[in-house]
Amino acid sequence: MHKDVERILVTEAQIQGAVQKIADGINRDLNDEPLLVVVILKGSTPFAMDLIRKLNMPVELDFMQVSSYGKSTASSGFINMKKDLERDITGKNILIVEDIIDSGNTLFKIKTLFESRNAKSVRICTMLDKPSRRVVDVEVNYVGIEIPDEFAIGYGLDYNEQYRNLPYIGVLKREVYEH
Ligand code: IMP
Ligand code: MG
Repeated sequence: MHKDVERILVTEAQIQGAVQKIADGINRDLNDEPLLVVVILKGSTPFAMDLIRKLNMPVELDFMQVSSYGKSTASSGFINMKKDLERDITGKNILIVEDIIDSGNTLFKIKTLFESRNAKSVRICTMLDKPSRRVVDVEVNYVGIEIPDEFAIGYGLDYNEQYRNLPYIGVLKREVYEH
């Protein structure tokens, strides 16, 4: 275990089980309809790459980046677009892939934006959900694992751009961010 990890929240095996469960739901619901998978950079990339290899329909891939927490561990409530999609999404089935839903602000704004661009459908999947932290009510179609209100790192999730490469999801020791 990494020295800055307090304890492991989700093991590698549990991650793969959650990815399969989410993929099964998407395969069932889309029923071979083409899907545009939108990966929210950067934290969602390991999850998205595991997920797309389990999807059965024709899949296109695009990426979007919105402003993150920076060095803080609390959400700011507004988003700032750093990178938009490459192509027009009119008439497409969209799957937004997110690493974690906390307040819900980020996903609510992205979903509303895609709907305003006349997507055919907009679904959301997330590896992790912190339901106790929700401020904005946003429908999440596929959730991997619900976790308590603690700061998670690993499997894409960072603190100050570190720890994204951990193969499991762990709780960051408080002493790392509280001085
Ligand atoms: P929301 O807009 O408050 O739902 O925040 C979502 C974003 O905050 C996620 O995409 C993450 O980038 C970041 N975030 C929220 N909680 C955590 C955490 O526990 N660890 C790492 N990043 C987090
Ligand atoms: Mg993120």
